[in-house]
Amino acid sequence: MSRTLDHLLDRNVAWAHHKTSEDPDFFRRMAEQQTPRYLWVGCSDSRVTANDVLGLDPGEVFVHRNIANVVHSSDMNVLSVLEFAVEYLKVQHVIICGHYGCSGIRRALADERGAMLDHWLQPISMLYRKHRSVFDAIPTEEARLDRMCEINIEMQVRRVAATPIVENAWARGQPLHLHGWIYALHDGLLRDLGPHLSSLEERDTLPSIDHRVLHPAEPVSALRRHALDAFAAPPSCCTPTTA
Ligand code: CO
Repeated sequence: MSRTLDHLLDRNVAWAHHKTSEDPDFFRRMAEQQTPRYLWVGCSDSRVTANDVLGLDPGEVFVHRNIANVVHSSDMNVLSVLEFAVEYLKVQHVIICGHYGCSGIRRALADERGAMLDHWLQPISMLYRKHRSVFDAIPTEEARLDRMCEINIEMQVRRVAATPIVENAWARGQPLHLHGWIYALHDGLLRDLGPHLSSLEERDTLPSIDHRVLHPAEPVSALRRHALDAFAAPPSCCTPTTA
């Protein structure tokens, strides 16, 4: 086995060549500044890469990833990223994006304990244990896992919204929208799961995560809700009128 990674360096040269041939000024522009409009907080899973699934070039999305896209209020890493994105880059959207079939969430539901990872996943484990009867009533293991993946995203959106960084941005009138999305590995599509928050008032009137566990808007999955939204008739205000 080779000790070096020349094949990766070769791929890098090919990629840079390709970019330059398509757009000769690409790297000059990139070197001057980055002006991303989005912060992506996602899972470290190698299959869920922000730029790829969003179809965005370098420079267009600021990224933080960790196992199971958890936002700990004591994590200097995620808080520094959030602060930099909101206060310096002035991103307008923070996307918390998890994915179905997440191995981190699967671990949080398991009985094994003690690894560092279990400390990281503790908020998810605690939510599961608190509402175990609700989750365990879901008939299959995969459906239970997917439901937990969804509810974790809803929980992390609430945690981002509870940071003083976001509170201060809203208080000073800075446009900032928080989104909860989920990605499906089997079709490569993102779903807007919610909640969507753009102000302190919206955050403060949001039902608690415990309420959402007990009263899900869509008991099994948000997939159907998203599909219904996508194919719903446009509201009358958006319907063109005939002259
Ligand atoms: Co994952």
